[in-house]
Amino acid sequence: MNFSKRIEGIAACIDPIQVIADIGTDHGYLPQLLLAEHKTQKAILTDVNEGPLNNAKNTFSADSPVEFRLGNGLEPIFKGEVDACVIAGMGGELIRSILEHDPEKTLSMSFLVLQPMTEQGILRQWLMSNGFEILYDAYVYERGKIYEIIKVAPHEANCILGKSDDVFSVPTDDLEFGYRILARSIEAYQIFLELRFKKYNAIYQNTKSADYYEQAENALLKLQTIEKIKRQLET
Ligand SMILES: C[S@@+](CC[C@H](N)C(=O)[O-])C[C@H]1O[C@@H](n2cnc3c(N)ncnc32)[C@H](O)[C@@H]1O
Repeated sequence: MNFSKRIEGIAACIDPIQVIADIGTDHGYLPQLLLAEHKTQKAILTDVNEGPLNNAKNTFSADSPVEFRLGNGLEPIFKGEVDACVIAGMGGELIRSILEHDPEKTLSMSFLVLQPMTEQGILRQWLMSNGFEILYDAYVYERGKIYEIIKVAPHEANCILGKSDDVFSVPTDDLEFGYRILARSIEAYQIFLELRFKKYNAIYQNTKSADYYEQAENALLKLQTIEKIKRQLET
């Protein structure tokens, strides 16, 4: 079975544990890989929609150590039942609202691996203000797209997992550009910076007339932040 680089990148962030939950699993490819790599003994696969959960059921044989549960966010998971969870392939705002809804469950886990498709900076900000420590940000580049993976631990967990990983501390408060970049994903992170530079440069060029002063100013600040990060990366 071939897995996408995105799925492999998420799996690489999972430390070996007993039970993991994959929230919004769809085909269940991530837990399939985790079980194949013996990173978890058991997986609980959830989805809010029946169609995707049926997709997941078709991925596994009857004797696989997996459970399928229909439901919204973390609702199908009992507190203390899993060591960690993954929430991947959804918007950052949706991930935030799933976490916000069930603090008792999330704060009892050893770690969480999140892969927001949008609003990554907003999600990081929320995590840092709501009892989580960002252990690291990993980046994956696949077919012209960058995927951002955020590994966090609840402060209460006193989690040492991931802390020994080599990271680059991003020299800005603008969490759009990550927080602690995993050293092994620096190459993808540099591509991410180039893509963001192109995006904000285009915005700047299109808005620098007096009519769009605020947008131009914001784009210019982003460009300066990117330059600063790139300089720091070179030292
Ligand atoms: C784009 S797929 C991502 C699938 C998989 N996690 C991945 O990364 O490849 C998003 C999945 O999340 C499910 N989903 C959306 N909102 C959800 C929620 N509130 N709770 C659980 N699952 C949800 C959708 O039904 C869909 O199957």
